[in-house]
Amino acid sequence: MEFNFFPVNNIFKNDITIVTKELLPEGFPGDGSAKVDCANKINIILDEIGWASAKAQQLIRPITSGAKMKLSDHILYLLTDPGDSNGRGSVVGLLKIGRKKLFMFDLAGYQHEVEPLCILDFYIHESKQRTGCGKKLFEYMLEHQNVRPQQMAIDRPSEKFLSFLYKHYGLEHILPQMNNFVVFNGFFDHGSGDG
Ligand code: ACO
Repeated sequence: MEFNFFPVNNIFKNDITIVTKELLPEGFPGDGSAKVDCANKINIILDEIGWASAKAQQLIRPITSGAKMKLSDHILYLLTDPGDSNGRGSVVGLLKIGRKKLFMFDLAGYQHEVEPLCILDFYIHESKQRTGCGKKLFEYMLEHQNVRPQQMAIDRPSEKFLSFLYKHYGLEHILPQMNNFVVFNGFFDHGSGDG
């Protein structure tokens, strides 16, 4: 995903960048006007990749946009490829997480009020899917959050994502819930479901 009017490499110095509600890369060094300029560009990037993710999941509205990020405490991991587009760089994918208060059932059918880290949006550009980009981004997030995949709740996972979780993490036994979130066997072990 290229942005003709600005090189992606001018904004992102690493191949994985953490973005929060300020819409700035973590530790952004610039002053006032540089910050506004950078945040505007990231806003455009998030709008575009949010739409691409929505289309890939056949959703009528994006889950991710610049405006939604500004209003949330979500954490977004953005994957870029600095070597793409004749050295201008491209945006490859996103992984968005955040905590949510949920009522979840354990294996015995008991309901718990929990506030786990949730996977809210996950997308890799079509041209790069099935080349390990998703795994790279997901692993980065797990390490950054110091969390295991089975401790997380997933908002409406797609078939591709379920296949991804089985392939890379052996997750297959879903605990049935009354909401759109999916958790796997192990969610309630060691108090992880209590967030
Ligand atoms: N069909 C079935 N399984 C797939 C597909 C596919 N088209 N694409 C990826 N996978 C799964 C498979 O297990 C695959 O292993 P395989 O190729 O040996 O079968 C594995 O993912 C590949 O791992 P990566 O290359 O690391 O994954 P990728 O970079 O493709 O990222 C992702 C996975 C994010 C699910 C990506 O395929 C994608 O963006 N899909 C479209 C959007 C989507 O479904 N996002 C998840 C929505 S749910 C949510 O966001 C909470």
